[in-house]
Amino acid sequence: MNTKNIKAYGTEAPDANLKPLDIKRREVTINDVEIDILYCGVCHSDLHFARNDWGMTQYPVVPGHEIVGKVLNVGASVKHIKVGDLVAVGCLVDSCRTCNNCKNDLEQYCPEWVGTYGGYDKHLDTNTHGGYSETIVVEEAFVLSIPENLDLAGIAPVLCAGITTWSPLRHWKVGKDSKVAVIGLGGLGHMAIKLADALGAHVTLFSRTSNKIQDGLDLGADQVIISTDETQMERVMGNFDIIIDTVPYEHDLNPYIGTLNTNGTLVVVGYLGPLDPMLVTVPMIMGRKSVAGSLIGGIAETQELLDFCGKHNITSDIELINIQDINQAYQRMLKSDVHYRFVIDMKSLKS
Ligand SMILES: NC(=O)c1ccc[n+]([C@@H]2O[C@H](COP(=O)([O-])OP(=O)(O)OC[C@H]3O[C@@H](n4cnc5c(N)ncnc54)[C@H](OP(=O)(O)O)[C@@H]3O)[C@@H](O)[C@H]2O)c1
Ligand SMILES: [Zn+2]
Ligand SMILES: [Zn+2]
Repeated sequence: MNTKNIKAYGTEAPDANLKPLDIKRREVTINDVEIDILYCGVCHSDLHFARNDWGMTQYPVVPGHEIVGKVLNVGASVKHIKVGDLVAVGCLVDSCRTCNNCKNDLEQYCPEWVGTYGGYDKHLDTNTHGGYSETIVVEEAFVLSIPENLDLAGIAPVLCAGITTWSPLRHWKVGKDSKVAVIGLGGLGHMAIKLADALGAHVTLFSRTSNKIQDGLDLGADQVIISTDETQMERVMGNFDIIIDTVPYEHDLNPYIGTLNTNGTLVVVGYLGPLDPMLVTVPMIMGRKSVAGSLIGGIAETQELLDFCGKHNITSDIELINIQDINQAYQRMLKSDVHYRFVIDMKSLKS
């Protein structure tokens, strides 16, 4: 297979900074779209993966799965996308297309789904490399179209932070007057607030300190509860139909279970791993409450969200950075000092 060398940014070890790397991209095959990457969002998953927090990283890693760009080239069988179009790529670049999940637009739960980075690239027999790079080549079926009215850099985080919170909001049928709570005001949290608010829900933010109260309200929350304050937690007992938990590290879920209404569900999207302390089942049994998980979203659902964002004029609140600032951005992310998503201006990689 013909390939070309392009510039990227990534890391070769869990304890090494990200730095310039050269990687290969395939030349377009008949179904492929080659995209010049203009913007790429910075997700906390990029940091987890670069540092091997999930114990499955193969190096080198080029993170980035919130990609917005312009089409440079298309294969002969590409039907709906043409050179010059503005398009997007999220967390998925391939799946088996035949299993029940794929047939039901749930490609993210396909046993053979291929992540935009760190997945298996069947074309090059190597790992897939993500959006901290000049270009990406993706099959048309995994390329999304973006609404024309929205800021291009601000759309990028919709591709992961947005869809990861949208999918559970839709699955648990959030609508007018639903009572939604969001734990953690970072990239996912701020999109969850905006989206739940746009769906007509009553939205509560749980944050650990009072630093982000005004931002939470400005983003669309109706109230902010400081999760470290027992009196405030007491005030919202038995309240929520759904809680979206975006916390990236081990934490105690038990204080939040009591804040669910009967039949309520706490959906973990942030933390992957065993819980410590363990879950106490009593309040779950006494109120038919659930704890669930959810992974990003399928291609059709991501397109639905992009269209919803276009209609409701929703983008992410971003801080635009140069690729050379990525290590500092990761340090700030570890301190929860993100307002509320870093997006890389990919011009900086080319200069
Ligand atoms: N399930 C999926 O498909 C999926 C998709 C994308 C990302 N993720 C995961 O979702 C998590 C969040 O990603 P993100 O990009 O939104 O991260 P982020 O921007 O760093 O935001 C996380 C927020 O969680 C709170 N937080 C951080 N550390 C905490 C701790 N130790 N205890 C309690 N709260 C803490 C902070 O909010 P406050 O300061 O307000 O407390 C922080 O702003 C990551 O683990 C990421 O890997 C999952
Ligand atoms: Zn992500
Ligand atoms: Zn499949």
